[in-house]
Amino acid sequence: MDHFSLIGGHLHAEQVPLSQIADEVGTPVYVYSRATLERHADVFREGLAGVPRKHLAFAVKSNPNLAVLKVLAKRGYGADVVSGGELDRALAAGIAPTDIVFSGVGKTADEMRHALTTGIGQFNIESEEEGQMLAEVAAAMGMRAAATLRINPDVDAGTHAKISTGKADNKFGVGLHVCPGIYQRLAQLPGIGLRGVAVHIGSQLLSLDPLEAAFGKIGQLVSDLRGAGHAITHVDLGGGLGVPYQTEHNPPSPAEYGALVAKVTRDWDATILFEPGRVIAGNAGVLLTRVIRVKPGVQHPFVVVDAAMNDLARPALYDAWHDFEAVVPDGSRMTANIVGPVCESGDTFAMGRDIDAVKAGDLAVFRTAGAYGATMASSYNSRGIVAEVLVDGDRFAVVANRITPAEIMAAEQVPDWL
Ligand code: LLP
Repeated sequence: MDHFSLIGGHLHAEQVPLSQIADEVGTPVYVYSRATLERHADVFREGLAGVPRKHLAFAVKSNPNLAVLKVLAKRGYGADVVSGGELDRALAAGIAPTDIVFSGVGKTADEMRHALTTGIGQFNIESEEEGQMLAEVAAAMGMRAAATLRINPDVDAGTHAKISTGKADNKFGVGLHVCPGIYQRLAQLPGIGLRGVAVHIGSQLLSLDPLEAAFGKIGQLVSDLRGAGHAITHVDLGGGLGVPYQTEHNPPSPAEYGALVAKVTRDWDATILFEPGRVIAGNAGVLLTRVIRVKPGVQHPFVVVDAAMNDLARPALYDAWHDFEAVVPDGSRMTANIVGPVCESGDTFAMGRDIDAVKAGDLAVFRTAGAYGATMASSYNSRGIVAEVLVDGDRFAVVANRITPAEIMAAEQVPDWL
């Protein structure tokens, strides 16, 4: 459920008409709903009521906006970060360092030092090489880094290949068969305090089956590692729960997911960590855009909007579907191709889609754009970086200024020898 709805025939974010935001801030612009973020944060937590010891770390990569992070911090969420930049954002949003988990295959020594200095709660390390580096960095600082070892369980998540992370040939984690040896060797290093394992098999999962398969393997591994004398106190189950981008999508609910987790982890006797991103932020945001013109096409007209693949990359990258709705629908429909102004055919949001009828000048939204939206924006075609707005009841604030093409150009120099 979200808080974007028609009131008096006009699409609103909570109590704010989207046309007001377009008038005051311009388009394209991402609009987030605080009430929706909070609701999703609470529903996810409530779904996990059957898991007694847990830690919720919002996957910052899905929406790193400081205001969004602050909303979630106030809801008791920590952060899952994958770079020094994300770590600094989580800290700036007021998330306690001890509530921060650092994931990712390519942490550098500098990032490790920075994270240790700030006192983060846990590193999820993804290889023996990374564990050795972390141990060295921490030992040189006279510290011991709390860490888990990420496992690649070789499970097909059944999602888009580019967001699947738990198959053996994906770059993430270490294989189950090599894990006990790596764990044993890393556990002997004084700079690292290994305390468990982590897993994340992919994103936008629409079935619990692959998760159940992966968690089953992790459960077995936990008892094997304990059998080998290791104290396993923490298991990180990652994120990945899908959201409905279209009506045919029927992802498991947080309650169903929580029931599965409660069942499989019942005897684990460990703190269970979660790294949800999309399920919290996805439906809490829309990308508000204005139709520039409608151009005739061979089969269907092209609706050219002022948002493009540089603002919302998901359709171009993953053939992702985002529902398209007019802000002031008149009840009529049209079949159209929806495209942006960028000069490549990949800049297509939909082909031959049945949509609310729109004409030049109309406002419309792409739905479910709160996760992996603004954060993946670029300035391709020398377009600006899209602005972001947070709505709270009947008020709103710009939470990320539009970065204009002129500002981007100002960061470049031409050497005087040219
Ligand atoms: N934890 C780890 C280690 C991850 O790699 C990810 C996502 C998450 C948590 C959060 O997953 P979520 O709950 O959001 O599914 N740009 C792509 C999605 C990439 C996901 C990468 N990892 C998209 O737009 O679909």
